Amino acid sequence: MTEEKKVEEIMTKVEEEVQKPSEEEVQKEEVVEEEEEETLEPLVEEGEEEEEKVKEPIPKELVQRRRFLKRQKDKDLFETVEEVFDMSTQMAVYELMRRGVIGELLGTISAGKEARVFCAKDPEGNDIAVKIYLTSTAEFRKSIRKYIIGDPRFEQIANRGLRRLIYAWARKEFRNLKRMMQAGIRVPKPIAVYKNVLVMEFIGEGCRRAPLLVELAKPKNQLDVEEWTKIFNTVYDYMVKMYQKAKLVHADLNEYNIMYWKEEPVIIDVSQAVPISHPYADEFLRHDIQQIRRFFSSVGVEVPSFAEMYAKITGLE
Ligand SMILES: Nc1ncnc2c1ncn2[C@@H]1O[C@H](COP(=O)(O)OP(=O)(O)O)[C@@H](O)[C@H]1O
Ligand SMILES: [Mg+2]
Repeated sequence: MTEEKKVEEIMTKVEEEVQKPSEEEVQKEEVVEEEEEETLEPLVEEGEEEEEKVKEPIPKELVQRRRFLKRQKDKDLFETVEEVFDMSTQMAVYELMRRGVIGELLGTISAGKEARVFCAKDPEGNDIAVKIYLTSTAEFRKSIRKYIIGDPRFEQIANRGLRRLIYAWARKEFRNLKRMMQAGIRVPKPIAVYKNVLVMEFIGEGCRRAPLLVELAKPKNQLDVEEWTKIFNTVYDYMVKMYQKAKLVHADLNEYNIMYWKEEPVIIDVSQAVPISHPYADEFLRHDIQQIRRFFSSVGVEVPSFAEMYAKITGLE
């Protein structure tokens, strides 16, 4: 097999994972690649159809604003953004500011391998969460590298593919949040997605995030068994709704991806969630059920058997 074929094959495989964009979308995105400095994809807001994309030129004022902001004294946040993110990501953040989605970006809440989460304020001063997917994760690059074998032509193909893939990933998390919310599951309300930047409701207050379930259990168990049982029942109900109404499987459901706010569990981190028709959906569901059973029994909840949960979630009971 030629190297080119190899690269093509691997990119196709990964793209299929994140719901390959339509021909039309691909063409559009390729135009964007070529004219990167002059055009921006529009923002997808709640209720707006993603298909209704109109390209807009980057206004001069945006570029000027960026220069202005650079000069600001209290620009810690921009230093953070500039240190960590490439120009395209910086511009995406400024564009969200120009559109009145983000007022100011404040501190980092979490710095994971694939994404960073910031607390931010909307223009009215309300807390919002901004999740920025890294477009240059070493991890991802490494996994692709072996198919590229140091040929700069292939590096270019892979880089373009990678960026496209990450934008699709961010859009997927936005859509999954929306679908889960519509199914009656408590998740952060999605607000906007643009390129690799996802804006959503902030779970917490005053830029202090709510605790994760794992933090309420370790090192010291902070809830009693009645409270844990209540949380379990809600999470269980969400698992049923996720499968039967949203027709999705979370695929990374555990105590690290559930927050606890106002005495209610909140499901987060849904970029990897897959439709129940996905070839691995069943495997992912089984794994999610086991993770949830393991965690809740560790805090003393009397959890139903695996078989009972599986039957109830999938509606086979
Ligand atoms: N909407 C939100 N509000 C407040 N904090 C959040 C929100 N979303 C994520 N976080 C925090 O950021 C961390 C990482 O977010 P997550 O979506 O799990 O990304 P990943 O695990 O892929 O890095 C979470 O564990 C949580 O502490
Ligand atoms: Mg997570």
